[in-house]
Amino acid sequence: MRLVSLSRCKEGTELAKSIYDNNGLVLLAEGYKLTDKVISRLRLLGIFAVYVKDKYSDGLIEDFGISHELKQRSLVEIKTSFTSLKSNLKLTGRINPKILKSFQNICDDVLAELLSNKKTLNLMTSVQIYDNYLYNHSFNVMVYTLQLAINAGVRSKDLNVLGTSGLLHDIGKMVIPIEILNKPGRLTEEEFQLIQTHTSEGYEYLKNQPDIPIVAARCAFEHHEKIDGTGYPRGLKGKDIHPFAKIMAVADVFDAVTSSRSYRPAMLPHKGFEILYGGSGTHFEPELVQIFKKSVIMYPVGITVTLSTGETGFVVKNNNNFPERPIIRVIEKDGVALQESEVHDIDMLTDLTSTIVQSDVVM
Ligand SMILES: [Fe+2]
Repeated sequence: MRLVSLSRCKEGTELAKSIYDNNGLVLLAEGYKLTDKVISRLRLLGIFAVYVKDKYSDGLIEDFGISHELKQRSLVEIKTSFTSLKSNLKLTGRINPKILKSFQNICDDVLAELLSNKKTLNLMTSVQIYDNYLYNHSFNVMVYTLQLAINAGVRSKDLNVLGTSGLLHDIGKMVIPIEILNKPGRLTEEEFQLIQTHTSEGYEYLKNQPDIPIVAARCAFEHHEKIDGTGYPRGLKGKDIHPFAKIMAVADVFDAVTSSRSYRPAMLPHKGFEILYGGSGTHFEPELVQIFKKSVIMYPVGITVTLSTGETGFVVKNNNNFPERPIIRVIEKDGVALQESEVHDIDMLTDLTSTIVQSDVVM
């Protein structure tokens, strides 16, 4: 199982993992052999990379991720409930206690999976078509927020509230026209200002909900604030931003850049980390960035990387506590495929001569 860019796939390439449609149902099953026509169609659907079988990657053990079943069930709940809260570009009415209960159940189930896992988390484990980025983003932000909060030592009694706040942090986006949210090009000043209102819209709506903890409203309001005061909507500084909103800010940015959109592929996790490091101390609490680095996988098993030695291969295993130095199976040197007998593994933890300079697959 390797994750490869669709542009590397040919007629006959065999899928190592199913591809799911926007309802979470299997679109193309594991074992399916791609055709040129299907490859073009996938590209139109916003798929940029797929998991394929090849002789060098048989039997790789995957990183830990949230189960597909739980994710799908959650996405259906999020879509149904978010849609029911909106009418005429307004968030209206009281959140049905049943919806809230279902969100709490989702959080509990995700928490149970996260707490039983002792490894770093990888949310890039499946390939799926999404009809609305917001639902998937809300789910991922909840998961990243919870993983970060667990590792940052947030009290266990607060985790469920934090998870629900993560699910609801962007609820204000339900009132922003989808064409603006999904606009591929540069936003105009007016459009950018309109998008920024999702924070106050979410806050105004959530703070009046009797069954929602006020911290969820604060997180919706403050998750785009930056600790140096350059964020929005109020330009709050570090000490004035709710600690849960600071956790969410890290989770939010990481997911935003590592998720694919219909108009652009995702960045791989290590690029997402570079963005977090770049904002550490100005946008984000440095301590949270450090903890997040230990919480989420940097180079997922199966992704293709190029080393400073000119060798290309893919990640076969990660070394605990050393996310930058995984074990790589080398299959190419200077662009030329190695003979089968020359294929070998490099453990970057013991072989310190090389560094990863590029990972060419995006999804
Ligand atoms: Fe947001």
